Amino acid sequence: MTQTLKTFFIRTYGCQMNELDSEIMSGQLIKKGLKSVDDEEMADLIIFNTCAIRDLAERKVMGKLGLMGRGSKKNVVIGVAGCMAMAKKNALLEKFSHLDFVIGTNNITDLSHVIDEVIETKRQVLKIDSRFEENLDYLATQRQSKIKAHVSIIRGCNKFCTYCVVPYTRGCEVSRPPESIIEECQSLVDRGYKEITLLGQNVNSYGNDQPEWNCRFHDLLYRLNSIRGLERIRFMTSHPVDITIELMHAIRDLPSICEFVHFPMQAGSNAILNKMHRIYTIEQYFEKVAMLREIVPNVSLGTDIIVGFPTETNAQFEETYEAMKKIRFSLSFIFAYSPRKGTPAKRWKDDIPNAVKEERLHRLLELQNQITNAELQQMLGQNLEVLVEKFNKDGKTLKGRTRCWKKVIFEGPANCIGTLQQVRAHSFSYQTMLGTLEGSK
Ligand code: 5AD
Ligand code: SF4
Repeated sequence: MTQTLKTFFIRTYGCQMNELDSEIMSGQLIKKGLKSVDDEEMADLIIFNTCAIRDLAERKVMGKLGLMGRGSKKNVVIGVAGCMAMAKKNALLEKFSHLDFVIGTNNITDLSHVIDEVIETKRQVLKIDSRFEENLDYLATQRQSKIKAHVSIIRGCNKFCTYCVVPYTRGCEVSRPPESIIEECQSLVDRGYKEITLLGQNVNSYGNDQPEWNCRFHDLLYRLNSIRGLERIRFMTSHPVDITIELMHAIRDLPSICEFVHFPMQAGSNAILNKMHRIYTIEQYFEKVAMLREIVPNVSLGTDIIVGFPTETNAQFEETYEAMKKIRFSLSFIFAYSPRKGTPAKRWKDDIPNAVKEERLHRLLELQNQITNAELQQMLGQNLEVLVEKFNKDGKTLKGRTRCWKKVIFEGPANCIGTLQQVRAHSFSYQTMLGTLEGSK
């Protein structure tokens, strides 16, 4: 007798790209006739969409998979997708005999076939391709939000920073045809979506792999800006080397492009940047920031920082601290270096003790807190444009974000959800602005 799967549950770890891939996989499963359930216990199919960027992310999944082996129901199909699938491949199937399939980041199109194969053969199935093929049914994507959506524009990364697994877990850069992106964005706007975030490990190299399209990242932004009803366009992530003056002009000139750029600096010391293979000096980075701020004076910047990279001295860390003080990012994601198998940095001694990494991390978090608080303090009394997304956790107040990604909470009627509203900032708490509703835009 063949087993029929009726329900599924996907647990997602890691970045926005993974969240989007889970939404794409959900769409495929729903098309196949399965129903999504919120409770893992109720699912006939469970997929772990995993992350391999740091050791902690990986350990969480390994622990969870170990537990599944003991208590789980006999006829549940269990699969692993995402970056750990690419990093560990067959080793996962060997380690966990209760695992039914492992599917790579470049194979989400094959999900349906892989599940059929598992059921027919009753064997473990491994499906991993190193390169992404552009043939996904994006329009089937099953999204969490009805107001804002992530849209993938380029997959993979060609940069090979020495600490990073992404070029190995997601493969080389493959841009998605502009027509396909525009079709998806238009369809989202037709269904009432107000904000789209364009995703890629490095959106600034969009189109470089397909010169005959004649459509670079800024060209794509001009085309998307002309979709009527699309209020806000965001994008991430931008590699400092590939950001162009044309992109800066697009941010300045196109009304729907939000004035926020996630622009990872990673470190402030040239010796460390060089060892990281970031291919810019800190002076070049400062120059790009200065140019961006000159062209788009109200731009907000976000960054990623790694502390405790191999050989990072106290003095080199102080250079990162000073660079952050100088630039004053609105938002930073700060990480302790974690050696990853298969990367060049893994061959170097992980010589910075954990306690030192932690201390450096806390100093930067503290600095960022001060900067963010000062920024919020300056915004008090201002009228902010907020895209209202949903009720806050308390179930009474509403939550939304400004164009420069500040979270705002205020009281208002439910029918504000999905609209742009003016909210006057009166106070803030833990990086969240609190305000009073002034009315629609
Ligand atoms: N250790 C710590 N942080 C890392 N990142 C990437 N690889 C590592 C690693 N091995 C961080 C970088 C990147 C962000 C997504 O994760 O800062 O920009
Ligand atoms: Fe990783 Fe560097 Fe590529 Fe970012 S640019 S995904 S840090 S290799």
